[in-house]
Amino acid sequence: MESIQAVKQRFGIIGDDQHLNRAIEKAIQVAPTDISVLVTGESGVGKESIPKIIHSLSHRKHGKYIAVNCGAIPEGTIDSELFGHEKGAFTGATQTRSGYFEVADGGTIFLDEVGELPLPTQVRLLRVLENGEFIKVGSSKVQKSDVRIIAATNINMQESIKKERFREDLYYRLSTVEINLPPLRERKDDIHLLFRKFASDFALKYKMPTIKLQDDAVGLLQKYRWGGNIRQLRNIAEQISVLEQERIIGPERLKEYLPNIGSNLPAVIADKKKESDFSNEREILYKVLFDMKSDLTDLKKLTLKLMESGNSKKVQDENESLIQKLYGDEEGEDVDAEELEALNDERLEVLQIPQNSPKSELNRDKDKYYFAEEIQEEETLSLQDKELELIKKSLERHSGKRKAAAEELGISERTLYRKIKQYDL
Ligand SMILES: Nc1ncnc2c1ncn2[C@@H]1O[C@H](COP(=O)(O)OP(=O)(O)O)[C@@H](O)[C@H]1O
Ligand SMILES: [Mg+2]
Repeated sequence: MESIQAVKQRFGIIGDDQHLNRAIEKAIQVAPTDISVLVTGESGVGKESIPKIIHSLSHRKHGKYIAVNCGAIPEGTIDSELFGHEKGAFTGATQTRSGYFEVADGGTIFLDEVGELPLPTQVRLLRVLENGEFIKVGSSKVQKSDVRIIAATNINMQESIKKERFREDLYYRLSTVEINLPPLRERKDDIHLLFRKFASDFALKYKMPTIKLQDDAVGLLQKYRWGGNIRQLRNIAEQISVLEQERIIGPERLKEYLPNIGSNLPAVIADKKKESDFSNEREILYKVLFDMKSDLTDLKKLTLKLMESGNSKKVQDENESLIQKLYGDEEGEDVDAEELEALNDERLEVLQIPQNSPKSELNRDKDKYYFAEEIQEEETLSLQDKELELIKKSLERHSGKRKAAAEELGISERTLYRKIKQYDL
């Protein structure tokens, strides 16, 4: 049996944490079997190397290894991707197509983010796991495939099962053996090791001297929360390697690269966007503040209306449209879950920032209310100017390319399109 050390070397895995070692040992142990394995752990902890280790130490090593990111394939095409389809199965299916399960016969399929699989696909997957049988979309012919499944997830599967988003029977079938990878914050001794490895990789890549950390900077790295785990550490090592002239880094300098230092909340924005791009972050903050302000204005209007309402039909309708505007979506724009989540995460960030907004209290007194609203309006206006300016600048920077501008502004293309119309740009 290969040693843990040899496997680490072969797969470029750094660290000597006992939980990491145990995870690798388990991978080596289950490799020769066909047992299905579920790899668990937060995002960025290094889950992707486990299925590769298992495949290459198994008797399937000369067969195919296919990694599928279940969260990235649209719900409408995932069955066809995995199991293939018959010609004419749906519009656009001009040819019979083999799916991954057919192609990987004799090999291994890695289902990353398996918790994202739609329920109907889960049923098909359960069947193939139980007896190796599957049916192409639009076909009635049962086919057989000998595939080993390794799945990974960064979400709490018990919760998904409770919410009926994931089938319990499939979960047990997938997780005969679970291999858990610890978050970086629980591998403190590995943090500096990893940083040094990344710093030397990037020094080579960018042909610059290697970045070194002063002792108290190392201490800071070890205390940090690392919401994005090793992926985040790697990104930060890369940024510092590229941006810093002075190659010895002290704690103060390092702090500039660590978002939400001193906070226990996960570094959500930082994880998704470039940490050093402060202007980008400011733009997002403006957007969130702007949205919150207009929500508040609407809420005040609604409260006032409700206070006044003699329950006439007109008032009711108006209230409904306001409620719609507040809690639903004004223009029937379909907000996708990810966007919503991202927005909520951004709000989470904003809430940490101390805000002095005495004017934003909800005044019960009607006169006071109007007074408050006038001020509110002024603020909204200047925020609008700010927003307009930001949008203009961003569009200029990207020579009118909406997609790039929207990305930079942290808003959806549709929202940007709406704003362009609104401001008549
Ligand atoms: N122990 C490790 N040593 C070196 N690099 C690692 C280690 N663990 C993870 N990485 C690197 O961190 C990044 C994220 O790993 P990945 O496997 O994609 O995480 P996950 O799938 O858990 O989100 C990758 O670039 C990977 O090469
Ligand atoms: Mg991954």
